[in-house]
Amino acid sequence: MKLSVPEYIESIDPYKPGKPLEELEREYGIRDSIKLASNENPLGPSPKAVEAIRAGMESLHRYPDGQGYGLVAKLAEKLGVASENVVLGNGSDDIIAMLTRAMLQPGDEAILPQPSFLMYEITVRSAGAVPVFVPLDDSLAIDLDEMLRRVTSRTRMAFLCNPNNPTGTVFSKKQFRAFLAGLPPEVIVVVDEAYIEFVRDRDCARGINYLDADRAVVTLRTFSKAYGLAGLRIGYGVMRETLSKYLHRVRLPFNASSLAQAGAIAALDDEVFLQKTLHLVQEGLKYLFKSLDRLGIRYFPTQSNFFLIDVARNADDVFELMLREGVIVRSMTSYGYPNYIRINVGLPGENERFIRAFEKVLAGK
Ligand SMILES: Cc1ncc(COP(=O)(O)O)c(C=O)c1O
Repeated sequence: MKLSVPEYIESIDPYKPGKPLEELEREYGIRDSIKLASNENPLGPSPKAVEAIRAGMESLHRYPDGQGYGLVAKLAEKLGVASENVVLGNGSDDIIAMLTRAMLQPGDEAILPQPSFLMYEITVRSAGAVPVFVPLDDSLAIDLDEMLRRVTSRTRMAFLCNPNNPTGTVFSKKQFRAFLAGLPPEVIVVVDEAYIEFVRDRDCARGINYLDADRAVVTLRTFSKAYGLAGLRIGYGVMRETLSKYLHRVRLPFNASSLAQAGAIAALDDEVFLQKTLHLVQEGLKYLFKSLDRLGIRYFPTQSNFFLIDVARNADDVFELMLREGVIVRSMTSYGYPNYIRINVGLPGENERFIRAFEKVLAGK
């Protein structure tokens, strides 16, 4: 029997995550491989989070607090907002899905930078809405002016990613203010700040500061990157209450598990781990950039824990050859950059291993 599938669901390409280490080791019979493909924290999880999760296991027979009272209150206090402004998600992906599910309907348009995080397109299409893609500018930054030019009477949402994945660029406060001023007030602005902790540019815009703007600005944050909790699945959105109440209508009742809530609360107090992570990333970037300079390889500056490298040949081939060396990188072919790969900073030994393997692959040995 042929299933009757909505055309807009038929049009979706499933999300392709970075290749898992276990899969590489199974397929290639390799041991001790490393992964620099998913912008994860190479230090592991925050130790305080692990401790809290262990303690939380005693209560696994209970459903979690659906509203996430403790974590929401802690985040609200830290960010200087009200609890009603914070919605927890099973990763920040979940907030993106709730936003599109609650606020878009078939025929609506959402403006997306391209390339950027792939889940925007997937969730917009899932709602039957139309993604309107706006290419990055020549410096691989989000082209906010061009995004404004693409607004129509059907535009309901605009996605921004700051820093942008996969290019690592940020937009400034001034650019963001001009963007908001040029946008019709009914358009919901989503600012995805999954990597905001890594940003050093003081002029980088932060969505939270625009919570009281004359339109809905949603800021997305996650514990998956700087806090090292990607496997736990916990993220959040900060938005005006008139919007958060609709997200709660479509939110699955226990979308943030009890362990995720406990781990995140503890991670927020683990300032030592956070600082260690940020230091590791900055030192790692210095080493990687210096090594790539030595090899005469072009790369792109970044405000995040990942960056693009121009391999000046087919990126899928380089991805494959690096796999054979036990190093997982991300080919940017599916993001529209057939000659670029993206890597994230690893531990010092992993960064060195990457450079050794990369040198070998480039030399065709
Ligand atoms: C820009 C961006 N936003 C959101 C996410 C999703 O993160 P989470 O693990 O919180 O769902 C990612 C993950 O890679 C990302 O790169």
